[in-house]
Amino acid sequence: MAALKFLAAFSFLLVLCNNGGVLGSHKVYTQYQNLQAVKVNQVHRTGFHFQPPKHWINDPNGPMYYNGIYHLFYQYNPKGAVWGNIVWAHSVSKDLINWEALDRAIYPSKWFDINGCWSGSATILPGNKPVILYTGIDPKQRQIQNYAVPKNLSDPYLREWVKPDDNPLVDPDKSVNASAFRDPTTAWWVDGHWRTLIGSRRKHRGIAYLYRSKDFKRWVKAKHPLHSAAKTGMWECPDFFPVSLSGQNGLDTSVVEENIKHVFKVSLDRTRYEYYTVGTYDLKKDRYIPDNTSVDGWAGLRFDYGNFYASKTFFDPSKNRRILWGWANESDSVKDDKEKGWAGIQAIPRKIWLDANGKQVLQWPVEELETLRGPKVQLGNQKLQKGEHIEVKGITAAQADVDVTFSFPSLDKAERFDPKWANIDALDVCAQKGSKVQGGLGPFGLLTLASEKLEEFTPVFFRIFKAQTKHVVLLCSDARSSSLGSGLYKPPFAGWVDVHLTKKKLSLRSLIDNSVVESFGAEGKTVILSRVYPTLAVFGKAHLFVFNNGSETIKVENLNAWSMKKPLMNAPIRI
Ligand SMILES: *[C@@H]1O[C@H](CO)[C@@H](O)[C@H](O)[C@H]1NC(C)=O
Ligand SMILES: *[C@@H]1O[C@H](CO)[C@@H](O)[C@H](O)[C@H]1NC(C)=O
Ligand SMILES: *[C@@H]1O[C@H](CO)[C@@H](O)[C@H](O)[C@H]1NC(C)=O
Ligand SMILES: *[C@@H]1O[C@H](CO)[C@@H](O)[C@H](O)[C@H]1NC(C)=O
Ligand SMILES: *[C@@H]1O[C@H](CO)[C@@H](O)[C@H](O)[C@H]1NC(C)=O
Repeated sequence: MAALKFLAAFSFLLVLCNNGGVLGSHKVYTQYQNLQAVKVNQVHRTGFHFQPPKHWINDPNGPMYYNGIYHLFYQYNPKGAVWGNIVWAHSVSKDLINWEALDRAIYPSKWFDINGCWSGSATILPGNKPVILYTGIDPKQRQIQNYAVPKNLSDPYLREWVKPDDNPLVDPDKSVNASAFRDPTTAWWVDGHWRTLIGSRRKHRGIAYLYRSKDFKRWVKAKHPLHSAAKTGMWECPDFFPVSLSGQNGLDTSVVEENIKHVFKVSLDRTRYEYYTVGTYDLKKDRYIPDNTSVDGWAGLRFDYGNFYASKTFFDPSKNRRILWGWANESDSVKDDKEKGWAGIQAIPRKIWLDANGKQVLQWPVEELETLRGPKVQLGNQKLQKGEHIEVKGITAAQADVDVTFSFPSLDKAERFDPKWANIDALDVCAQKGSKVQGGLGPFGLLTLASEKLEEFTPVFFRIFKAQTKHVVLLCSDARSSSLGSGLYKPPFAGWVDVHLTKKKLSLRSLIDNSVVESFGAEGKTVILSRVYPTLAVFGKAHLFVFNNGSETIKVENLNAWSMKKPLMNAPIRI
């Protein structure tokens, strides 16, 4: 559950109130919590990203595939556009793209969740029986772990969920901080026991506690956590899953065999970013050991270098793939959210698998997204000189899927890589080396959600540097010029791209959707989701360009861009 920050803000404001003076802020905040949106502002709503018709959403919960239907639950405030009153909203889909909304599935109703129903995961038990593990907040404000099961397994939509009276399954024992004990994972079965992880912290150490059970009812804490890391703070929403050493197929969470690796991910409350490592699951010790190529902590690898948090994967047996969901919050103000009547989206579901180099994962939008592609335009063999930008005309640039491959004749003009950059966040390099700073090999890429005269634009681009022994590639999604609006968070998000440049080519796919630019660099090596709020580049007034601002001439080898249609997005289900 990614709610801690809001609770923290809340108590902070309470303190201020007691000291007098800032009563206003507190009052305003609580008012927003229960302020039904009377009007929903359409300007920045997304066309094909997952959203309910109104109000606040955060973490994706319990995604699963069951009897031909995908289920997505998510943290939702039914009463307002800020965090509060959280329930598990429930949507179903046959293709991960068109969604129908059902009634809330889990909401506070019993003593063991009366103060909150926070995040959790689904596990399919033998006999094809789904069960949900989630964090409940009890009358003493303790975080405890509960389960819920479908009321009627014959209901194709699993509309109603029952929370049996033998809950909770897991109470925090004396050694566990009951205010930092949440977000159970999908359970896995090996050697006669189910296992699940619960995110926590001890002082500054982030911890994934391991619990085991023979019957899914009686859970016992293992002597050692599965994994922990110093100075990382609270670990929210842990995720732990096997990946195959070859090919793109996903594996069921319980698969433990030779020729696989494991991925371990946590959401760091302290940074509000996630990181993951690739490593080995040592079954004898029941511990996870990251490979020496994977850094533990927030200098580590990220699924996404932009707005992306509280993510969760699930195994889709119908297509033998593992799918990643993540929440993208807003980058505008709470007041803006109140006025819009909504806040938060889910990123496009992504297939996720291990890179052939064994050191990182790759991600790609699920193939079903392509069913939304409408009219297409193509561009090929187009040279771009330094300072040039060329419009990609003929599509709805505010709502598009763009896939482009750039090539360059040589690497000679790559700028020098400053060794100091090895120790700072890629975002800080993008801040120094944005699209407006002309370079050698790059910056080149796309100008998304651009106004005609470029008063507003979100550039997504590569820059190639020459380090001592190798070339280093940066991918930026820079929101700094994205909007003429005020009070917005406009970070120059960026990540490094671990790619060989032997073919002298780089590809980029961007999903552009009104207030989202979700970009996949180098076939899914580095992914960045940005939230942006243009004032001019909206609807039909948005433009798309390719550009180059480096002295080396760049060629657009091939560009395909499609207008994207709107799927069915959370209309109430027709029964
Ligand atoms: C369970 O769901 C099925 C299919 O919708 C329905 O026919 C049946 O009446 C339901 N059973 C109960 C006890 O509600
Ligand atoms: C327990 O967790 C809460 C919430 O993260 C934190 O404020 C508190 O300091 C923690 N207590 C201890 C003893 O670490
Ligand atoms: C990392 O681990 C591999 C084996 O998995 C080993 O061959 C290599 O020497 C290690 N590298 C370092 C720097 O420890
Ligand atoms: C969400 O948005 C704000 C900007 O308003 C950002 O600073 C924050 O860390 C974001 N992320 C999460 C996961 O809350
Ligand atoms: C390219 O560089 C020039 C010079 O700094 C700048 O004026 C222009 O805005 C840049 N183009 C883009 C797309 O950033």
